Amino acid sequence: MENLLDRVREIASRPSSKNEKLSEICTLLRCKIPHYDWVGFYIVKGNELVLGPFDGEPTEHVKIHFGEGICGQAAERKETFIVQDVSKETNYLSCSLKVKSEIVVPIFKDGKIVGELDIDSHTLSPFKSEDKEFLENVCSIASSLF
Ligand code: SME
Repeated sequence: MENLLDRVREIASRPSSKNEKLSEICTLLRCKIPHYDWVGFYIVKGNELVLGPFDGEPTEHVKIHFGEGICGQAAERKETFIVQDVSKETNYLSCSLKVKSEIVVPIFKDGKIVGELDIDSHTLSPFKSEDKEFLENVCSIASSLF
């Protein structure tokens, strides 16, 4: 995963637009990590999360209020939220029946939450401490694109 972080840093330093770079990061993570089936960024606007660049099937959840679903809960808690089995989570916004688990990592800038990285998996309990550490590092790098 150290190699992948270098690839993320390289993408972030390209001269292309911020959205293109965020989109490239989504594609990289989805292609390289088998248990990442949907990878997307949400952008904080007021007390809502608005869908930004993503890689995977389109989702109806393009706007999510703070507190709503796994994404909205992570935004309120301001910390990484891992749900290893979404069928056990009552405050959950379903995108597809194929999704079995989810990890959401907040993105901070100057101490304030500015966005989130959201990953859905079709595998049950796939997220290890390595995923959390890796994705929090990805979000520190991606913070410069917000
Ligand atoms: N499942 C999320 C909604 C967003 S999708 O996973 C892309 C949630 O419960 O917040």
